[in-house]
Amino acid sequence: MVPRYTSYPTAPHFNAAVDGAVYADWLQQIPSAQALSLYLHVPFCDTMCWFCGCQTKVVNRYQPVASYLEILNQEIDQVADVLGDRRPVAHIHWGGGSPTIVESDDFRAVMSRLAQRFDFLDSAEIAVEIDPRGFTREHARALTETGVNRASIGIQDFDLQVQEAVNRVQPYDETKMVVEALREFGVGGISFDLLYGLPYQTVETVLTTIDKAVGLDPDRISLFGYAHVPWMRAHQQLIDEDKLPDGKARLALYRAAAGRLAEHGYIAIGIDHFAKLSDPMGQAAYNGNLQRNFQGYTTDEAEVLIGFGASAIGSLPQGYVQNAPLVPDYRKSVEAGALPIVKGIAVSNDDLLRRRVIERLMCDLRVDLAAEAKSFGAKPGIFDQNLADLVPLKVDGLVEVDGYQVTVPEGARLAVRAVCAAFDDYLGKGKGRHSRAI
Ligand SMILES: C[S@@+](CC[C@H](N)C(=O)[O-])C[C@H]1O[C@@H](n2cnc3c(N)ncnc32)[C@H](O)[C@@H]1O
Ligand code: SF4
Repeated sequence: MVPRYTSYPTAPHFNAAVDGAVYADWLQQIPSAQALSLYLHVPFCDTMCWFCGCQTKVVNRYQPVASYLEILNQEIDQVADVLGDRRPVAHIHWGGGSPTIVESDDFRAVMSRLAQRFDFLDSAEIAVEIDPRGFTREHARALTETGVNRASIGIQDFDLQVQEAVNRVQPYDETKMVVEALREFGVGGISFDLLYGLPYQTVETVLTTIDKAVGLDPDRISLFGYAHVPWMRAHQQLIDEDKLPDGKARLALYRAAAGRLAEHGYIAIGIDHFAKLSDPMGQAAYNGNLQRNFQGYTTDEAEVLIGFGASAIGSLPQGYVQNAPLVPDYRKSVEAGALPIVKGIAVSNDDLLRRRVIERLMCDLRVDLAAEAKSFGAKPGIFDQNLADLVPLKVDGLVEVDGYQVTVPEGARLAVRAVCAAFDDYLGKGKGRHSRAI
């Protein structure tokens, strides 16, 4: 069981020493010309998918969403006030939960608040995670009117038996309509989320889902391994564990899907992404400048990620910060005029070096430890113990080590997290329990 390494140090090591005052101080140190990346979290959904591992809650009325957005707007003002002037923004990402639960006029209102307080670059990427169920042409229109140019669409699996087993029935025709509407209104970048490791999935059903998905011509596909963590997400207990594929079957599902995606011309990126080579993410992977942050793999190179909303995580040069995870706590803090940070971690030079090593491994499946150490003013010898720790993985053929060059062979792509774990100085410090690596 190893972390997904969307940050380093990973979230279980965040602590309460980093609070709103520390965050304010860090924000004020950001140079005015530095382009920012913004993340907005919407922790609400219409129904609960039983596999869901996201920070979200089911609501039956719109009122909690509307009142949450008021607080979100207040938080935007608070952060902008601390920053002092209108900062350039290169990326905006709306995630959740389901940002598409937000009514069009409210979505426009938050986007216009952001545009008042920040300066969107002409080249800015504005992405929204979309639940296609109930998504209309009106929604598509509102998104494009506010400048949204990338849509990340939740599909998971097209097979009805699989969909029923996870409480997410979503007909293919509905998804197709959503893709067509987004394209019609000019959203150029289309990404799909698919899952493997769900109940009743077989190689045949997964290949059928892949073929149907590719038929809709997305630029990118995320193929996430279902993370079964019922001790953290109680609703996952509703999933019949007897029907879940075991480790060997999961690997077969992944391999079959990845092989079919390669036949369709999608290149494999890291542990769970596929993209056309013409897509910016395909290009970034090809050129070795792919990044990894809390949203997973990204082309976003901004050094500052500001998170808005309950549970949102920010990444600054000085460290990470996290907002209160529960909406009532988040609300209370913002209403009291405080930045709603409950924890975080300041990063040391050693953390930054290890973060870089882990990020390159997660993105490129290889890293030159000597070159990375040098760029951080360190000696490569600091990794000698980590290289010794890799020996068992080497024996199993999951990693190749040549001096200070570490390479994960293509066939061991899914094991890269275990290789990263060897460079994680916080592991073994007793925090965190994670989902299986494959
Ligand atoms: C916030 S949701 C996407 C937007 C929207 N809520 C939806 O589901 O259509 C992000 C994605 O996380 C993935 N996901 C959710 N729970 C997961 C889990 N337990 N393991 C792995 N991936 C998961 C799904 O593929 C999902 O589409
Ligand atoms: S997968 Fe998406 S729609 Fe389903 S409960 Fe999670 S966040 Fe909501």
